[in-house]
Amino acid sequence: MKPLITVENLDFTYPDGTPALLGINLEIGEQEFIAFIGQNGSGKTTLSKCINGLFKPTAGKVIVEGIDTSRRGVIKQLVTKVGYVFQNPDHQLFNRSVKSEIAYGPRNINLPEEEVEERVREAARVAGVSEDLFETHPYFLPKGLRQRVAIASILALKPRTIIVDEPTTGQDMQQSLEVMNFLRALWKEEGHTIIIITHEMRIVADYAERTVVLGQGQVLLDAPTRQVFAQPEILQQTYVEPPQITRLAQKISMDEPFRSVLKVEELEQLTKETLS
Ligand SMILES: Nc1ncnc2c1ncn2[C@@H]1O[C@H](COP(=O)(O)OP(=O)(O)OP(=O)(O)O)[C@@H](O)[C@H]1O
Ligand SMILES: [Mg+2]
Repeated sequence: MKPLITVENLDFTYPDGTPALLGINLEIGEQEFIAFIGQNGSGKTTLSKCINGLFKPTAGKVIVEGIDTSRRGVIKQLVTKVGYVFQNPDHQLFNRSVKSEIAYGPRNINLPEEEVEERVREAARVAGVSEDLFETHPYFLPKGLRQRVAIASILALKPRTIIVDEPTTGQDMQQSLEVMNFLRALWKEEGHTIIIITHEMRIVADYAERTVVLGQGQVLLDAPTRQVFAQPEILQQTYVEPPQITRLAQKISMDEPFRSVLKVEELEQLTKETLS
């Protein structure tokens, strides 16, 4: 099968000279659910921004549905192929009402106003944003809802691939499960390719079919999630964080079969056990 996205020998260096990505090779196919993991500064966000065309490669290539992202004038096409939901939705929301926020993308690619209207309603419905909130300022919404608005604004562009940077940060367990189950439905029922970036290994284990481990701008491991968790030494090497990650990883790799969804109480219990 032809991949949706091909990353070939990608290097990316920030203007201040920081080398963030070094020789990345990846192929991403249709309807995949992938997690990018790795310690802080390993290059997850930078890679995502290269995949959605926001950053152009310093060397190497990124091809998205046949489009070379370094070609000039392709950004309007690219936003309809790969959507990126920012690590902090507040960096993404800048319109004065929920409705104009969701309409911003479709308007920006010059769709007729009728279609913009239709897409806004559809995206809001799918993302679980009530039309009663359309005139509200996104700033006044709780974080969970702000993130839904951020996701709706991406969905309105109908990208096949959706990258969500830290979907569960700053949310309680219930909200985390809601957003994850929502992403899962977009993947399973709507056929999107979903890429999540997260530090939460339980989320990775429960939702991602494939895991890409990044370390210092390189791909350390790219394999089915189950295989990644069977190699705790790689996870340990990846995380400066606590050894409980490894214990959690080992526990997860022994849980057979994987369940798609965990109950809130189970998640709480598991977190308690691994942190104790
Ligand atoms: N605007 C920037 N200018 C210069 N260097 C940057 C910039 N943004 C990130 N970097 C550097 O690029 C490297 C990769 O950073 P990136 O933000 O992609 O990592 P990350 O894996 O997303 O980290 P985190 O888990 O903390 O979000 C790091 O060395 C970081 O310090
Ligand atoms: Mg990041």
